[in-house]
Amino acid sequence: MSFHTPRPASWQSCVRCGNESLDTDASVRCPACGGLLEVRHRPPGVAPEQLRALFQGKSAASGVWRFQEMVLPSVAAESVVSHPEGNTPLLYREALSAWAGVGDLLLKHEGHNPTGSFKDRGMTVGITQARRIGARAVACASTGNTSASLAAYAAQAGIPAFVLIPAGKVALGKLAQTAGYGARIIAVRGDFDACLRLIDEGSARLGLYLLNSINPFRLEGQKTIVLELLQQLAWDPPEWIALPGGNLGNTAAFGKALEEAKEWGLIDRVPRLLVVQAEGAAPFARAFVDGFRQRVRVSAETVATAIRIGDPASWERAVRSIQLTNGVVTAVSDAEILEAKRAIDRAGVGCEPASAASLAGVRKLGREGVILPDDRVVGVLTGHMLKDPDSLLDEGTRAAIMEVDPTIESIAAAVEV
Ligand code: F0G
Repeated sequence: MSFHTPRPASWQSCVRCGNESLDTDASVRCPACGGLLEVRHRPPGVAPEQLRALFQGKSAASGVWRFQEMVLPSVAAESVVSHPEGNTPLLYREALSAWAGVGDLLLKHEGHNPTGSFKDRGMTVGITQARRIGARAVACASTGNTSASLAAYAAQAGIPAFVLIPAGKVALGKLAQTAGYGARIIAVRGDFDACLRLIDEGSARLGLYLLNSINPFRLEGQKTIVLELLQQLAWDPPEWIALPGGNLGNTAAFGKALEEAKEWGLIDRVPRLLVVQAEGAAPFARAFVDGFRQRVRVSAETVATAIRIGDPASWERAVRSIQLTNGVVTAVSDAEILEAKRAIDRAGVGCEPASAASLAGVRKLGREGVILPDDRVVGVLTGHMLKDPDSLLDEGTRAAIMEVDPTIESIAAAVEV
């Protein structure tokens, strides 16, 4: 099917075959060919200054729905399921600029979202859409953050939630959150890729609305990370935006946000995306070296369990993002990730291991001369420090914990430096 003008405010379009469907169509993949879908919006029909003023003028509690015209314009405000979310800080820390060797480095801390990760931006839209289409129950496969976010928003909407996680491979904070919000957790004896394959194949048959980032409405929400940081920079784009890459939903969302922001006149030039993967889970970085001639799949292993993914789902959409932004994909070792995380933690910022890949990648590309010393870089920290307590309690940090007798003498001995 294909629309003739006038088009509705929003519709869905298949990335592979171009088939178009209504934005209320409940299929998560293209009904014609099974490809990934994208939500498209009719341009706003107002000048860029007016659109910027509109976003600026909204005192919306949600940093997602402030940009509703670019997210899901046709949904009524009273139908929105919002915590609220977004409105996350853009941080400058001299110590981290120095560590990365980039003078003008800002960190967009998405760990400040209600469940502690950027997933909330996608989930407010995903669950709003689930309610809009009358979903009976929702589901996802997850390395932990999506499941925590899904569980929270489904609880708010009163919809049962089922999550598939790789048994033994999800960080403690995420697992505890997901259970606490009341989702049913199915721990699969397999990796994340196996979980996603199962739920992708089975969700329609089982009557579950799939809310992985395969779902195009999730990506509409995640676009607002980019929109919000551009707004925080008064729509003067940085040279680079760096983010970790796992299932590549965010990479897809960032490219789409930048494409639309340029098309709609909000920015006059497009920043380059830097996608950073862990070396043990780097199929996208490997394919980049080869000009994306083929799709690569690996068996993934990394300390950054959030991005322990070997067969990313949003592959085609992410390739497009890299091509569109003249982007770069790189990989860093687990040691480099942990070194970057330590720097971030010790600067008083804190993040989970996968998030630190952003900064490790920025330092690497700075050293390689790809990022220039004067370039402005925004690194995205995707998750909160408390998500993965085990990764914090290594030998070094355990040494900071000193157990003493309850006497003033032992306290005095302990505070001696
Ligand atoms: N950083 C964190 C903290 C994540 O949780 C994820 C993905 C990513 C980065 C990568 O983002 O998949 O869009 O490329 N976590 C998913 C989950 C897979 O299930 O929570 P991506």
